[in-house]
Amino acid sequence: MNTIAPKHHLAHALNQLGRVPGLPAGLRGREIRTAGVVGAGLMGSGIAVCLLAAGVPTTLVDLKQSALDQGRGSVDKAFASLVKRGQMFESQAKGLPVLLSESLEFEALADCDVIVEAVFEQVTVKEDVFRRLGAIAKPGAILATNTSGLDVDRIARASGRPADVVGLHFFSPAFVMPLLEIVRGKETALEVLRSALYLSTILRKIGVVVGNSPGFAANRTLEGYGRESEFLVLEGARPEDVDRALTQFGFPMGPCAMADMAGLDIRNHYIHALREARLIPDDPRYGALTKALVDAGRLGQKAAAGNYDYGPDGRTPLPSARALEIRDRIASQLGVAQRSFTDEEIVMRCLLPVIDEAARVLAEGVVPRASDVDVIWVYGYGFPAAKGGPVYLARQLGLPAVRDGIAARRRADPAFADRYWAPNPSLDLLFA
Ligand SMILES: NC(=O)c1ccc[n+]([C@@H]2O[C@H](COP(=O)([O-])OP(=O)(O)OC[C@H]3O[C@@H](n4cnc5c(N)ncnc54)[C@H](O)[C@@H]3O)[C@@H](O)[C@H]2O)c1
Repeated sequence: MNTIAPKHHLAHALNQLGRVPGLPAGLRGREIRTAGVVGAGLMGSGIAVCLLAAGVPTTLVDLKQSALDQGRGSVDKAFASLVKRGQMFESQAKGLPVLLSESLEFEALADCDVIVEAVFEQVTVKEDVFRRLGAIAKPGAILATNTSGLDVDRIARASGRPADVVGLHFFSPAFVMPLLEIVRGKETALEVLRSALYLSTILRKIGVVVGNSPGFAANRTLEGYGRESEFLVLEGARPEDVDRALTQFGFPMGPCAMADMAGLDIRNHYIHALREARLIPDDPRYGALTKALVDAGRLGQKAAAGNYDYGPDGRTPLPSARALEIRDRIASQLGVAQRSFTDEEIVMRCLLPVIDEAARVLAEGVVPRASDVDVIWVYGYGFPAAKGGPVYLARQLGLPAVRDGIAARRRADPAFADRYWAPNPSLDLLFA
């Protein structure tokens, strides 16, 4: 049981973030005055907005002029939305895009102090980009990757100067979400790590330093949440049931609407990559519904159809009879028994795996403190701050209740119990 209020717990957790194991307090970082971004897509343009908003002249590089044009359009739209939200004066929003330049040539990045890569999530594509960056970036430039979970050490090696490389994992939309996961590679220089923390401050982000592990800390702890929300739908809950339970718990958006917003094709691709890397078991249920929806052209918000249908505004999720038909077909093909769920059951099914994985990332040293996972969930995934985060929640529930919850899942899903609900001797670390 917690003895402090959630807001004090979070304030303390935020205060701890600057204490990075092995990083001397007085060590200075490298100066960052100019930046480059490789890849002008969703994330690259959003990261450019963050840099420009901080007054950092930024050069955006892509392979195609059409991508650069689209990137420039996204930057303009993002500034317009910041003005609309009252987060920026119109005069600022008009002035800042002047600091943006674009190029089809990597050589345009030669003088940048920091270069953030945001190209496709394929390790070989990223290796190729880092090979080129290693050759053209000036000595002392910081080379960052925005990968969501690929091996930062492998990407760093390709550059030929791994000490200069760090992961900077922004969350989408990059100019809105406050979290920045800073991934420390095996060879990342300490002053590069310090510079990354410094950058998080000038971008007004909350920088959390984590270790290099597939999915790092954020996506690793998110995976079970996504898996169980999809299983719940496969087992008979409707997407709106799952989302209602979690929004009533306090999330601004439920996992089914969130998956639609991010794009079900992205999730499908991600699950495929996890399967190839043998990071998920050979379970035909895993990602089956996502794949069926994608195969039916239901890619999420961008296709006005996913777990939900979307009306004329393209954003408001509407219950979808077609999505439920697809669910019924897949559930029957896989022989998944149908039932109904209480809101409390839904919340626990989705959050228990987060608690379980939080203990594992802590035990492996991917995060130095359990409370870092709370910061990640509150500021990266919209976990209600008033409930303190998944670790705080675990402490509210108590170790026996968490253990019982996991044991109940083991009994309910025996075929894959050892993969999804394996005994976790590290659980008690969350309660230390
Ligand atoms: N989409 C998200 O929610 C999200 C969140 C966090 C991190 N990320 C990560 O950000 C990265 C980019 O994702 P995205 O959603 O912006 O992708 P995207 O497809 O929108 O954009 C990728 C851009 O990279 C360009 N590109 C590809 N290869 C290139 C190369 N060799 N040189 C220069 N440009 C190249 C493409 O033309 C495209 O414009 C990925 O690593 C992804 O995992 C995405």
